[in-house]
Amino acid sequence: MNDYERMAEMLLQSHYAVALTGAGISVESGIPDFRSENGLWAKYDPMEYGDIESFRSNPAKVWKMLLEMDTLLSRALPNPGHVALAQLEQQGILKAVVTQNVDSLHQKAGSVQVIEFHGHNRTLRCEECRRRIARENVFLDKIPPLCSCGSPLRPEFVFFGEEIPLEAYQQAMAAAQHCDLMLVVGTSATVAPASYLPRTAKRRGAAVVEVNPKVTQLSHDTSDLHLAEPAGKALPAVMAALEALRAERRKKSK
Ligand code: APR
Repeated sequence: MNDYERMAEMLLQSHYAVALTGAGISVESGIPDFRSENGLWAKYDPMEYGDIESFRSNPAKVWKMLLEMDTLLSRALPNPGHVALAQLEQQGILKAVVTQNVDSLHQKAGSVQVIEFHGHNRTLRCEECRRRIARENVFLDKIPPLCSCGSPLRPEFVFFGEEIPLEAYQQAMAAAQHCDLMLVVGTSATVAPASYLPRTAKRRGAAVVEVNPKVTQLSHDTSDLHLAEPAGKALPAVMAALEALRAERRKKSK
């Protein structure tokens, strides 16, 4: 049995599988991750560009990075990794995707139960008057974009130094506590509290499967299986193995 078949078997045996995804699952959609060699934080210091206090003190500077992200996100399309997770939900196996990504690619791939742990890119809001505006109604010809009240608009991303949206936090924690299988796809598992989720699942008796070309902090003490490949390759192969397993069982039951 190869790792694809092992993962397929675990999925078929599971009663409540959830996924935790990070920037790695969107790399094959053309969006760089944060901490790989050519990641976003190699170009922009996260404490200067990813922190809420930096945004408040110099929105124009942070919007330089946000504009670059916005261009990448607007062009990105779901890749086979996103599609495979949506198929697992449609097959009734995957109950939710908790994502750290803000690119809306899980929803574009067809996933419905998506818990956005770090916010999303579909609206912007005003720090002062809290007004929310759909992204397509905001023009970024001048940065920072301003609210009608005159204050800078900001994306609905969770910056460093900000709280995780309460509902997303509660839903994600509940998923981690109730699941019997957690797929951890494309995350370095270095940013809390998202990084607590696989450990919480494991402590509660769930199996943890990691899909990541690299070894992470989870690989040594939390993951029961590690597919060390890009998600866009590994997940479709697991879907094919799942189909083959079902066909084999149908044949046996005749
Ligand atoms: N398939 C699967 N995994 C991949 C792929 C791929 N094609 N390409 C890269 N990876 C892996 C990398 O090996 C790395 O372990 O994805 C992981 C991406 O890690 P990070 O860049 O740290 O991104 P992430 O874990 O999502 O960061 C968490 O940090 O900066 C904050 O808010 C930001 O949500 C982000 C959070």
